Amino acid sequence: MKAEYNPDRWFRREIQIEMKNLQEKLSKYVNCDSSDIVILENASNGINTILKSIKFHSNETILYYNIAYGMVKLTLQYISSEILTPEQCVEIILDHQTIQNTDLLLKTTEDTLDKIKNVKLIVFDHISSVPSILFDVETMIKFFREKGILTLVDGAHAIGAIPIDLKKLDPDFYITNAHKWLYTHRSASLLYVKKDFQNLIHPIITSFGYLQPFQDEFFWLGTKDYSAYLTISDALDFRQTIANENQIYSYMHQLANQAGNLLAQMWNSSILTLDEKYISTMNNIQLPLTIDTLDKKDNLYKKLVNDYNIFLPMYEFDKKFYCRISAQIYMELNDYEKVGNIVLDIIFNRDPPPNTAQKKNISTILFISLILYVMQLY
Ligand SMILES: Cc1ncc(COP(=O)(O)O)c(C=O)c1O
Repeated sequence: MKAEYNPDRWFRREIQIEMKNLQEKLSKYVNCDSSDIVILENASNGINTILKSIKFHSNETILYYNIAYGMVKLTLQYISSEILTPEQCVEIILDHQTIQNTDLLLKTTEDTLDKIKNVKLIVFDHISSVPSILFDVETMIKFFREKGILTLVDGAHAIGAIPIDLKKLDPDFYITNAHKWLYTHRSASLLYVKKDFQNLIHPIITSFGYLQPFQDEFFWLGTKDYSAYLTISDALDFRQTIANENQIYSYMHQLANQAGNLLAQMWNSSILTLDEKYISTMNNIQLPLTIDTLDKKDNLYKKLVNDYNIFLPMYEFDKKFYCRISAQIYMELNDYEKVGNIVLDIIFNRDPPPNTAQKKNISTILFISLILYVMQLY
């Protein structure tokens, strides 16, 4: 409304003040200097910004793990084919053991580092997507810094789900989506760049901020709607009305744990992570053993979405099929019990799909309403 009321005043003056205030407030939430962050649309933009800004010599490489988000892998594929060479982007494979043991993970990484010289940058998740694992990024960042390797942390799922202390973590680059667990409007994300590198990083879009200091360069990227960015401030206030931050984090973490164990018990299966410290607000549960082919997995997925309006991400990892659940502040344990039963109903063909039941109910209601209406007429 403010923008439409007086677009010139909004874009030339007011939005700049609003964004400055927002950066101040947000930087306190993630504990960093307000001059070290910029607001962007999404993690895809942030990851592309960093990977396409850094200059690599022909003998320098980028490392990433097999569980990196699809967009990250494809951006690296683009870079390795259009800008660098395929040999300059190297994937490290993690399995169900290395993924949940930081020492083992670093040992596996070290094996790759022994073979590949001149690693300039590594990209890794704070909380990966599928499977969803909470990584000990503090230890990882320290490990790579000692080796002179730059760190780009994909924290798309982190802000609002777990506490983030950027001064303590001290990554070189960190991106996180506010429109996931912080409850902002889409799309809004935060990109942190360590002071030493701010002059090297340029937005994907070149606009009037070119040749200006870091934050000014990112401020104006063409005429657009800033309202989603500004909802970050409202989201932070809204959270305060629910509980304090630690209570929110801990409710979601505990629920993810309990729900994971409950589903594993109901399906006679198991959860991927044995140690709670690798679980954030999402959990990975092995699907019932009858789901043992891609076709069966896809059928279950489609039935859940189409007949029950339930979205349950399912994926294969280290030769097993898992699903991922998310524990939100508006969810309770019995929500997961319902999902658990529906999955069993579908697998064992126990019940008609609820759509048919719903359709029958709606027809009955319509029929009764018609009768009542006709009775009123007479
Ligand atoms: C780990 C991870 N990284 C990056 C992204 C990309 O986020 P966006 O689509 O907002 O750019 C996602 C999205 O779900 C994600 O899970």
